[in-house]
Amino acid sequence: MQQSAALRMEEAPSVEPCTFVLFGASGDLARRKLLPALYRLALEGYLPPESAIVGAALPWMTTERFRADMREALERAPEVGPVDETAWRAFAQRLHYVPMDLSRGDDYQRLGHLLDRVDREHGTRGNRIFYLSLAPTLHGEVVRHLGEAGLTKAREARGWVRLVVEKPFGTDLETARALNQRLHHYLDESSVYRMDHYLGKEMVQNLLVLRFANRIFEPMWDREHIDHVQITSAETVGVEGRGGYYEKAGVVRDMLQNHLLQVLAMVAMEPPSSLSPEAVHEAKREVMASARAFTPERIRTECVRGQYAPGLLAGGPVPGYRQEPGVAPDSRTETFAMLTMRFDNPRWAGVPFYVRSGKRMAERLTEVVVQFKDGPLAQGTPNQLHLRIQPDEGMALRFATKAPGRTVHHHDVALDFRYGDTFGTRLAEAYERLLLDCMLGISTHYVRNDLVERGWELVTPLLEAWGPGRNDYPLHAYAAGSWGPDAASRLPQADGRRWNRS
Ligand code: BG6
Repeated sequence: MQQSAALRMEEAPSVEPCTFVLFGASGDLARRKLLPALYRLALEGYLPPESAIVGAALPWMTTERFRADMREALERAPEVGPVDETAWRAFAQRLHYVPMDLSRGDDYQRLGHLLDRVDREHGTRGNRIFYLSLAPTLHGEVVRHLGEAGLTKAREARGWVRLVVEKPFGTDLETARALNQRLHHYLDESSVYRMDHYLGKEMVQNLLVLRFANRIFEPMWDREHIDHVQITSAETVGVEGRGGYYEKAGVVRDMLQNHLLQVLAMVAMEPPSSLSPEAVHEAKREVMASARAFTPERIRTECVRGQYAPGLLAGGPVPGYRQEPGVAPDSRTETFAMLTMRFDNPRWAGVPFYVRSGKRMAERLTEVVVQFKDGPLAQGTPNQLHLRIQPDEGMALRFATKAPGRTVHHHDVALDFRYGDTFGTRLAEAYERLLLDCMLGISTHYVRNDLVERGWELVTPLLEAWGPGRNDYPLHAYAAGSWGPDAASRLPQADGRRWNRS
């Protein structure tokens, strides 16, 4: 059985050297996440010394300048800690920069020559990872140019080429399909890695172990025993200067279509036949195929959208979404959404999955809460399993016990497991795990073409109903620093249920 790197990272897997070509190297993600992740992998011995990193981006700057910028980025990245001078010197030698106008075919020829030189000088054996961290409208064009320049084909008998596509993968179903077709014109699906960094988070990966390695959970994981499931991804940040992007995206495109549907699939899927990428993707495909479509009636009664108004966070005032730079003063873009997902399959018939995500909420918190049905003598809070994805990764099982004394009083208690207390080590960042997986050729925690399309298919009715010019569904205001619109808090209450945090 091929195992995910995530399940055996501590065994120091043998990684082949490669050149990592980063399109969008001057962008925010490269500085905040990708370069820090590669540096950490190098520091911990997961990046072979023959590997190289080539930044490709528009500003016309030199390799020296790029190295200096990246050094600065490492110093700012909280997960990196103090930069180790010796490790940095070795790492910096592997960094190269190529200024590129992505619309010019000639520039890809130049890139090809540089990569040949890097292969020879570093000994990367012709292995290449192209990482597209770009606006989604550029992905297709860059892939075409790479293909036409012959860069999507392996150079040497033993070499390989892999292509990572950062989210957003398309902006709707049609553009995602077109991009998949373009990719498949030049590359096999097995060489395409669609990134969703939520799949690299420790607790999300742990769902496979938690659900399928423990006898106590899997037999209970169905409609007989589970009343409902809640998935929350709350952020305290606003749109962080990305108003222009966010106006066109909204939370459905930014968080739900990808991150939360992927977490949902991991929670709800049937046991995969193995941990091979294909088996895991297949299990996810199957469960998402049974997700019930959103009709106008379901959107009206089972979904809520909201937008943050001015409010208070961490004791200080924060502006509303419409006051953010780059946002229209009468914008109707949603910064919060709650969806009730339902699966029409034997395991989950009748079990609602409440899924919500929002910006400028009361706390930064991503969690899954599985609420079990009541036992015959139950009083008070039902049994719940809380999976804390971030922060304070871990899980708690809540159950009733008899409070000590001569009479019988139920008391709710929790068995609590915290990664920090139990393992005491730093948890690897999602990007570290996923980049290592890609170098190893393991795509278990990347998103297959059909799944990305299915995600778009499911949210299409919402994008249409809530899209520009459509005012037939309410857009609820919520104060920044709250748990979202009251309508979202009330929705589960109609069925006698309540959010864990509201
Ligand atoms: C990104 C979204 O994909 O995920 C951002 O574009 C969001 O808007 C981010 O803030 C959240 O990621 P994390 O890992 O901080 O929960």
